[in-house]
Formats: sequence, structure tokens, C-alpha cells
Amino acid sequence: MDRVDHFGRDLFVVLDREDGRPLRVQLEEQLRDGVRSGRLRAGTALPSTRALAQELGVARGVVVEAYGQLVAEGFLVARRGSATRVAKVAPAAGPAPAATAARLAPVRFDLRPESADRGAFPRRAWLAATRRALADAPDADLGYGAWAGAPALRAVLAAYLGRARGVVADPDHIVVTAGITQAIALLAGLLHARGARRVVVEEPGFWQHRTILQRAGLALAPVEVDERGMRTDGLPQAAAALVTPAHQMPTGAVLAPERRAALLDWATAHDALVIEDDYDGEYRYDREPVGALQGLGGGRVIYLGSTSKTLAPALRLGWMVLPGALAGAIADERGWSDGGSPALDQLALATFIERGELDRHLRRMRLRYRRRRDRLVAALGDHLPDAEVGGVAAGLHITVALAPDADVDGVIARALERGVAVFATQHAGRALLLVGYANIDETAIEPAVRALAAAVRG
Ligand SMILES: Cc1ncc(COP(=O)(O)O)c(C=O)c1O
Repeated sequence: MDRVDHFGRDLFVVLDREDGRPLRVQLEEQLRDGVRSGRLRAGTALPSTRALAQELGVARGVVVEAYGQLVAEGFLVARRGSATRVAKVAPAAGPAPAATAARLAPVRFDLRPESADRGAFPRRAWLAATRRALADAPDADLGYGAWAGAPALRAVLAAYLGRARGVVADPDHIVVTAGITQAIALLAGLLHARGARRVVVEEPGFWQHRTILQRAGLALAPVEVDERGMRTDGLPQAAAALVTPAHQMPTGAVLAPERRAALLDWATAHDALVIEDDYDGEYRYDREPVGALQGLGGGRVIYLGSTSKTLAPALRLGWMVLPGALAGAIADERGWSDGGSPALDQLALATFIERGELDRHLRRMRLRYRRRRDRLVAALGDHLPDAEVGGVAAGLHITVALAPDADVDGVIARALERGVAVFATQHAGRALLLVGYANIDETAIEPAVRALAAAVRG
């Protein structure tokens, strides 16, 4: 501690006079890092400039300037007559200061492909279903439930998935999960415990699921995706393949019929499983919906579905339809980890589907999403006429390929500065913007695309 002069004990700030950098810069940096890391939480009141200056043994002006800079960057909020506080924003996990400051700009246009339209959640119908489920549930349903999930929900799901997605489902082979996220974690754990070491994944693919597989000790065998979905010529040896056939995440490609057949042949030849992530299969706009692969799969496909893209991620409700031989083992994995999903939520979902509310909601939303998608594609044609737009046939996002030499981080940062939040990925040496339309009003699409186009042009 001999090089350290003074601590700001209230804030855990340490200034080092031999560091060579101005004390103001050190103070700013540490406060900025504190906010970013979440150590200084939103709304926290900072000491007065006088008190902190005294504690640190610096001129008050040093603290005044540091606070001022951080207010300008959006990390702190100053209000006359009250303490300077940490801004009410989610701290970002460590990007460069410029990007962070931009990230903190308020999001006016949310084009992130994350969830169903959060503003369109059918609150009233959900509440009614919850009430009905609670009123009807016998006392026995309030005890510890079946690890695989409430029998009433599994029966309703079997009928719904057969009808809407062409899934061949026996209620006894369904396991209710906390979303697809948990389904993949359960599968990864079980596969690894049974000796699996490698899983084929789509390249590019959904990073979160890759992380889950890797955390379970499974190696990834990435296989390239093109405009017809994942390539199936020369699939490597692996215990399973995790795919998004209805609407590839993130490229938006729909897996071509001959590739579906080839994937299933591969699974048979290698005694492997196909894990079908049908996260947004309910949305297909211009043609007949593509049924689930599971319906063709002859017992080698594990089907995964979720309410995150139809209702809301907050429900944390999803399901797996498993080959009979795996259903019990997966239900056990689930049960031993947390005893299963909350019964009342499951019963509410069963009631919601049974009453036709999910169908009604989806009919309404498909029309709405389709109109937004059409507007989005038209606006991109107007404002970024050279952009290659893809993945428009299904789902809740489209892709926009940037020029090969585009600085994608710059595009994202400039978009944020204009209030547009959007995700990007890499595909075949190009950056792809992933432009979601589930959480933007139809009328906001034109100004959002204009701002995005300005960010792309730099
Ligand atoms: C590829 C993919 N699968 C599944 C999900 C949904 O996961 P969960 O059901 O855990 O919310 C998402 C959500 O964004 C997704 O992008």
C-alpha cells in the first residue's frame, strides 16, 4: 500500500500519485468501472464533491470535473439540490468507453430479436386463465407435482403441438421445462453423463446454447449454414446435432426438405440424436408453415418449444417432446435439480391453450408481425437499397448483410447513438445485422430504418 495515497472509503476509490495519469482521470475511470461492473448500483447516491475531495486528499475541482464528465457520459445523474447519483441504466459488461456511453443512450427503436412483442402480452386472457386454473385446481395439485410437468398441460401440449406443428407427441413423452434454455442444459448434462463428447451445431448459431453445451463438457462441431439451412453433406461424427430448422438462428434460413431428410439419415447412420429447437416455428408468413422435423424423425428427434416467442420470455415455460426411452431420464434430471415447474403457471398455460386463447393471440400477432416485416423490408429497400436482406420468410427477425469491409462495431455504436438497438453476427465472412420487428410499432419502422441506414453509412 505504500504507493497509495488516499482512499475514498465510501466508494472504494484508490488514487495512486505515482501512476503518472492525472488524478481526475483515475477517479473517472474507477467510478466508470464501478458503474459498468454493477458494483455501484443504479440510484446509489455519491458523496458530495467536498466530502470525497477531502477523503481523497485532492482539490475539490478534481472531483467536480470527474463527476461532470461522468454525468456527460450518462453514468451519473446530477440534480440541483440533491446528491449526484448513479444513473438508472444497466451497466454494460466492459466494452470500450465510447461504446458504453453510446449503449447508455436511451433506446428509441428496439430492433433486438429477443422476445415476442412485450407490449402485446395478452394480460387479460392470461389473468383469466390463471384465475380459472386456480379456481379449478384440486387441493392435490398444490402439492409436489410430477417432475415431467402437470399432466393437464402435457395433454394439452400434445394436442396443440400435433395440430399446430405436426409433432407426434405422447403426453407421457413430454417434459415441461423453464424454457428451451433449461431443456438444452438438461439434455447436455444427460448426454455427457452417458458418454457423449461432441455435438454438431449450426455455424453461425445461437451463442447461448453453445455456451450451455460447452459448460456441460461437450465439444462443438460447427457446420456451415447457407441459404438452405445447415449443410448436410459431410456431417461429422457426433452424439447429437442441435438445429433450428424452421427459422435458423441467426441467419433466418429455412432448412430445405432434402437437408431435413439427410439430417435424419445421418442421425440413423451414427446412432445420433437431432435436437430440434423450434423457438419461433409458429411464424411463417408467405407459405404454408413448415412442420416440425420431429414429425418425420422416427424417434431420433428431440423437439423443443417455448412460450418466449409466442407469449413472453418472463413466463419461463417451455417443453420437450422426447423419444420414449429418454423421457423418464430427462424428467429425473429436471426433478433432481429443482423439483419441476411451478404448478399454477403450468395449469394457467393449459387453460389458456385449451380455451383457444393461444390460437387467437397468434392469429392476431401473425398479422401484426407480417405487416411490420413488410414495412421493414420496404423501408430497407428505400434507405439501404444495396443491402442484402435475408430470412424474411419466417420468425421475428430478418438479416441485413453489410459490405465485406464494414466496421460492424462502429455500425452498432452509431446506431445506439441514434437510439437504435440492434444485434449483429458474422456469416460467411460478412457481418449480418439481425433486425427484429417484434418490439417496434409499425409506425416507428420507417424512422428506425432511416436512423439505422445513417449508422450503416457512417
Ligand atoms: C435460437 C433460440 N432458441 C430458443 C430461444 C428461447 O429460449 P427460452 O425458451 O429459454 O426463452 C431463443 C430466444 O431468443 C432463441 O433465440
